[in-house]
Amino acid sequence: MAGNRTFTMLKPDAVEKGHIGAILEQITASGFRIVALKLTQMTRRDAEKFYEVHSERPFFGELVEFMTRGPIVAAILEKENAVEDFRTLIGATNPEDAAEGTIRKKYASSVGENAVHGSDSDENAKIEGEFHFAGREMF
Ligand code: TYD
Repeated sequence: MAGNRTFTMLKPDAVEKGHIGAILEQITASGFRIVALKLTQMTRRDAEKFYEVHSERPFFGELVEFMTRGPIVAAILEKENAVEDFRTLIGATNPEDAAEGTIRKKYASSVGENAVHGSDSDENAKIEGEFHFAGREMF
């Protein structure tokens, strides 16, 4: 059975452009309940750990640079079939390939600066949520 929670980050580009409110509104209007939420900034070490799976990829350096350049909004979201439904809501990694109306289509500017993160599995949703939040911050 699919899990009912996923983890998201509104990335530094989305925060810089003032899109926090609009994106959270789209997320909640799409049926997700916010069960953890904070504005925070990742250190280089945090970003290297969070994206460890991509450490050998050519874009890794830029990705770490980007993700640490300013604050992000981290959140845990609850909904039936959360991981898959949230990936549908955000759209393809590259906004050029993202469907109309998706968060990345509306707010992302490039494959690197793509406005929002969504976990890709139930297992990673749990790991990523616990990476950013202490037990007493998750409701
Ligand atoms: P990935 O896990 O493939 O995508 P998604 O975020 O949709 O799960 O990649 C993680 C992040 O790495 C992606 O959101 C942006 C960055 N990235 C690049 O900068 N260039 C690339 O070519 C790819 C594939 C990803």
